[in-house]
Amino acid sequence: MTVADQAQRLRDLVRDEAAAADGEARTDVGPAPRDVPVRTPRPLASDSPRQAHVITVASGKGGVGKTNVAVNLAVVLARLRRRVALVDVDMGLANADVLCGVKAPFNLTHLLGRDRRKLREIAVDAPGGFKLIPGANGIGEMADLPAEAVARLIDQLTQLESHCDFVILDASAGINSAVLAFAAMADTVLVVTTPEPTAITDAYGLVKSVLKRTPLANLYLLVNQVEREVQGKEVHQRLAMVTRRFLQREVGFAGSIPFDRAVTAAVRGRVPFCLSAPGGRAALAMNQLGAALVRRTQSASAAGGTVRPGFFARIGAWLRRPAR
Ligand SMILES: Nc1ncnc2c1ncn2[C@@H]1O[C@H](COP(=O)(O)OP(=O)(O)OP(=O)(O)O)[C@@H](O)[C@H]1O
Ligand SMILES: [Mg+2]
Repeated sequence: MTVADQAQRLRDLVRDEAAAADGEARTDVGPAPRDVPVRTPRPLASDSPRQAHVITVASGKGGVGKTNVAVNLAVVLARLRRRVALVDVDMGLANADVLCGVKAPFNLTHLLGRDRRKLREIAVDAPGGFKLIPGANGIGEMADLPAEAVARLIDQLTQLESHCDFVILDASAGINSAVLAFAAMADTVLVVTTPEPTAITDAYGLVKSVLKRTPLANLYLLVNQVEREVQGKEVHQRLAMVTRRFLQREVGFAGSIPFDRAVTAAVRGRVPFCLSAPGGRAALAMNQLGAALVRRTQSASAAGGTVRPGFFARIGAWLRRPAR
């Protein structure tokens, strides 16, 4: 069976389930933080033939701001009336639900484990109007999961592709096999760094590993916590120069996000900063990033993108590959 056949099979498998889910009551989200506008997400369209644009948010060094970027990008894209799902695939320290201030009764553990929960049972409506699929803590490497759990995970997550415009994956820090697969197979990889030399070095390490595996990976550098905008451009120029010279590849510039105390305050308040401080410096930069992504995906679809197997089918094929 080719990968394309496999993707079709997975879509067929989930179609009935997705149709059933459309008529069901919404999952309990828990109380939303006060003073935060909670928009009801547009209903997920049924059987849309198009595939979501998958964005993997990754970094070399930990703590550079991936989860904040992933969550707030979801908020911004939802505000632009796109259907967005954020999947917390940090299997070590999943915390996107904490940043969103949602009490999620279930997470990926319940989908993977004996509970056998469905995606629609674990997905919650997050403030800002997107679907959050909370992560599973402490289950280690995805590649180590039993084959049956992997099959269920892929079957369930495949639903997201035809029901969303964007699927954002919040990956764990560092270079492990799952991160490399998520990065290599995504439509866009946002490599987040800060201007710190250690973070830049680790970002280069990640870029190098991804490109070694997938020379045509679509990599963009996002420089977070900058003091001045020019600092982000300088960091990108330095990394792009090294990548060009030693790897003969280009890494795009996704922009910079200023250091902003509103971000730390939002983290403490468990509210995405684009909701708690929408006029703040960091939020304005996120707006630009979201708008640029929408423009880019619009022009790509106008140009007629190539039909390819879905993201999760490709991840499934990778997870099921024989060990080398
Ligand atoms: N633009 C910013 N301005 C100020 N502080 C920031 C900014 N971005 C991130 N931070 C701070 O950095 C902390 C870590 O952010 P976050 O949890 O998003 O990083 P991460 O890369 O997801 O971490 P991990 O590698 O552990 O998953 C936040 O709690 C926040 O205090
Ligand atoms: Mg994180």
